[in-house]
Amino acid sequence: MTERNRRHLLGVGDLTRDDAERILDTARGLERSLDRELKKLPTLRGRLVVNLFYESSTRTLSSFELAAKRLSADTMVLRASGSSVDKGESLRDTALTLAAYDPDVIVIRHPHIGAPHLVAGATAAHVVNAGDGKHQHPTQALLDLYTIREALGRLDGVSVAIVGDVLHSRVARSLVEALVLVGADAVLVAPPTLLPRGIEALGCSVSHSIETIADADVVYVLRMQAERMEAAYVPSLREYTALYGVTPGRVRPGQVVMHPGPMNRGVEIDPRVADSDASLVTTQVRSGLVVRMAVLYDLLTAPGLPSAVAASVLEVA
Ligand code: NCD
Repeated sequence: MTERNRRHLLGVGDLTRDDAERILDTARGLERSLDRELKKLPTLRGRLVVNLFYESSTRTLSSFELAAKRLSADTMVLRASGSSVDKGESLRDTALTLAAYDPDVIVIRHPHIGAPHLVAGATAAHVVNAGDGKHQHPTQALLDLYTIREALGRLDGVSVAIVGDVLHSRVARSLVEALVLVGADAVLVAPPTLLPRGIEALGCSVSHSIETIADADVVYVLRMQAERMEAAYVPSLREYTALYGVTPGRVRPGQVVMHPGPMNRGVEIDPRVADSDASLVTTQVRSGLVVRMAVLYDLLTAPGLPSAVAASVLEVA
């Protein structure tokens, strides 16, 4: 993590290029450990990782849970529904309650931008942002970088077309920043109503034409986030699909296709593309596990260890 924020991963802005590359290298070392019959490493024995989820999640929550367990940490999950959050407890009070258990890491997903920052200020734990509103989702960006690097063998100069509902997507914001950080090119492809104004300032280009995806190495499809849409941003989902749906006819041979999940099959992505050999969707899920292991490892062991040293620590663990 950067000098500014070595203790937390609240956004991609907390990472230098070296940080990102070190985490990806550590993830690769950890991936090898998953091929063993005994998949558990003792590295984080005695540590406590709390997953505090105020929004629904399948992949992110399950992979953080499993990541912590594979490194031998204790884990706890607190979901908003069924907890005192239902009774109106404030985020700060919930954070202070959890802090009484002395957690080493709090992983938080919350609908409000900045919620992870609030928890970081209220507790002594390392905080990882697992998604705050439309803002950031840094571990998703790292797992996507890892997936691309493993599939294409490089990140520098790779071109990624991100297609869909950019306006409501924390995944898109984090991924653009991460791609720029490692020297890859990002183009955002969406109707004007689904592109935040001025997003080019992040260092990407924009296009309103689906034809643009033909030039990319990677087609990254975003979910239409109906739950975040207060108004009609597209005339109809059918029209969106006709103009921007990623169909077999729009994917060129040699391209790979990614999606963070959950997919709306038949809306933003044609099932034949989702299930094709070009699809890296399940690879992304596997990457999520090893990258989240690497993030926990990076936060809880000597930060800034050169990756070769980190790898040897993992080998002897
Ligand atoms: C994303 C999220 O929740 O931000 N999903 C995920 O973490 N894999 C994207 C989405 O919900 O569309």
